[in-house]
Amino acid sequence: MCGIVGYIGNQSVVDILIDGLHQLEYRGYDSAGVAVQCGEKINVYKAEGKLENLSSVLIQHKKEFTAATLGIGHIRWATHGAPTVLNAHPHTCNCGSLVIVHNGIIENFKELRAELEKKGAKFRSQTDTEVVAHLIAYKYEELKDLTKAVREATKEIDGAYALCVMHNDEKDKLVATKRNAPLLVGVGEGEFFLASDVPAIIKHTKRAMYLNDNQVVTLTREKMVLTDAEGNILPQKVETLPWEPVALSKMGYKHFMLKEIHEQPDVIRNILVGKLHSVDEPIVLNEVKLTKETLKNLNRIQIIACGTSLHAAMIGKYIIENFCGISVDIEASSEYIYRKTVTDEKTLVIGVSQSGETADTLTAIKQAKAKGSHALIITNRPDSAMAREADSLIPVSAGIEVSVAATKSYIAQVVSFYLLAMYMAEIKNSLDSATLTSLKADLIQIPQKIEQILSDKNDIKECAKKYSGTRDFIYIARGINYPTALEGALKLKEISYINATGYPAGELKHGPIAMLDESMPVLSILMTGSVYEKLLSNSEEAKARNARMIALTNSKDAKLNDLFDFIIRVPEVSELLSPLIAMIPLQLLAYYIAEYLGKDVDQPRNLAKSVTVE
Ligand code: F6R
Repeated sequence: MCGIVGYIGNQSVVDILIDGLHQLEYRGYDSAGVAVQCGEKINVYKAEGKLENLSSVLIQHKKEFTAATLGIGHIRWATHGAPTVLNAHPHTCNCGSLVIVHNGIIENFKELRAELEKKGAKFRSQTDTEVVAHLIAYKYEELKDLTKAVREATKEIDGAYALCVMHNDEKDKLVATKRNAPLLVGVGEGEFFLASDVPAIIKHTKRAMYLNDNQVVTLTREKMVLTDAEGNILPQKVETLPWEPVALSKMGYKHFMLKEIHEQPDVIRNILVGKLHSVDEPIVLNEVKLTKETLKNLNRIQIIACGTSLHAAMIGKYIIENFCGISVDIEASSEYIYRKTVTDEKTLVIGVSQSGETADTLTAIKQAKAKGSHALIITNRPDSAMAREADSLIPVSAGIEVSVAATKSYIAQVVSFYLLAMYMAEIKNSLDSATLTSLKADLIQIPQKIEQILSDKNDIKECAKKYSGTRDFIYIARGINYPTALEGALKLKEISYINATGYPAGELKHGPIAMLDESMPVLSILMTGSVYEKLLSNSEEAKARNARMIALTNSKDAKLNDLFDFIIRVPEVSELLSPLIAMIPLQLLAYYIAEYLGKDVDQPRNLAKSVTVE
């Protein structure tokens, strides 16, 4: 997380930096800052909170940087040190000649800080980044060369970083480097851009070079020089980015989240094009590079992901096991990477990530690949670091998701799992053709059914209003919709800050039932099918403890009216596809509760869209 940008050229630098940071706001919004070469000195401007606060600061200093054409910028998601102005980037050395912005975490910063303090470094912040500013400055005193100083300093740093550095004694230069954090150079005519991600530069150029770990790039207006950790000159792989600049607009919706929820029917239709032609034709999934023979003999799959993507992975497990009879393990990436995992060349490892940059998942994938596993990546960003690690890549094509709370990317991931599971089932011959045909027919109908839900949201709005005053919320479900309960609860927590938890309903009686009383809403995801009656009994148990009962259901069962205080109805859907339908009202419920409470829906506190720190 955190976003960094840099620019050297002939245009007004501050406008470019601020626009770039605006495009990277999904990476953090705790504070923002820019450093600009203003004649004989470098000026640093910072502000706590969102980017608009920095813009207000800059307006007051406009005259100082009107002619400036070189600078760096940063948008912060706080790791070390509170989100204050002092902790905001850019950070400088003692005299302010050397200025840096950083994305990542310096793991040995305490040791480095102690050593640097002994040498006379004066620290002003609590950040890990400031040690890097002082460290490079000391190297510079010896080497009198910014590129060399950066290269030597990074040899002493443990952890992850993308760094952009400028120095007042080398006024026409930017130096950047990275390890385990994204960074790319945009190449223009007589100008270069640096950024954590494509949206920050795509307006200016489509030509770009992704930096690899430990490479150092030195930019002047005339040229770029790429070197390795030893200082050897490297060839430059400048590529044309497969992106068009998009004007990110809310299209009349109050928030990006609401717009993105409404995009879901079309997202599904787009995914199905070219893959699911008709109910009688096999699924086409050329993206899967495993041979049919390997797929047939596969006996183990591991799916690794975080957060919402982990919930999509849980549904993936359910359907792959159901359709293909292959055993699937699910794991949170952050747990996977710090234990002895049993993974080998016979295991298919699937990484799921909206951003394709999540540090934990990326590390887990690299770890599994090192053990010989085939890595299949399901991501919304085919240009991401994870996509570059993929042996097979399934892009989910949900389009840019701006709201921090994932909605359309989740549905797109789940649809991709349905296609993958059906594709494998067809190769393995593990599902009878009548079931496959009816699954395909049902899947084609899903967008229309979601549109039906979206066309009348009054009940959901009413439910949101009625329950928005609650402090806690419980979601229960069984079977294939247990992950839906987890994801519904996560959505509510993220954007309304209500303490919401999802449980497999059968687990209620093993502890959580103790929390139930007349103040506790319990939302039961009651979709017809194999566990309907079981879940009904679990709901009765909760009702008997006076909980405030809500049903989300596709059932017309009259006895629900006595059991539940509030019922949200959804269209008929088969049990196996029901997570795609059940999730939509839960996204909307979270949205309307947060909106009713006046929360910052698209940029909830403490979160960031792309989590590039472990
Ligand atoms: C929740 C949310 C997060 C992400 C998680 C993983 O709405 O968006 O829980 O799902 O941070 O991110 P990706 O999918 O980019 O790996």
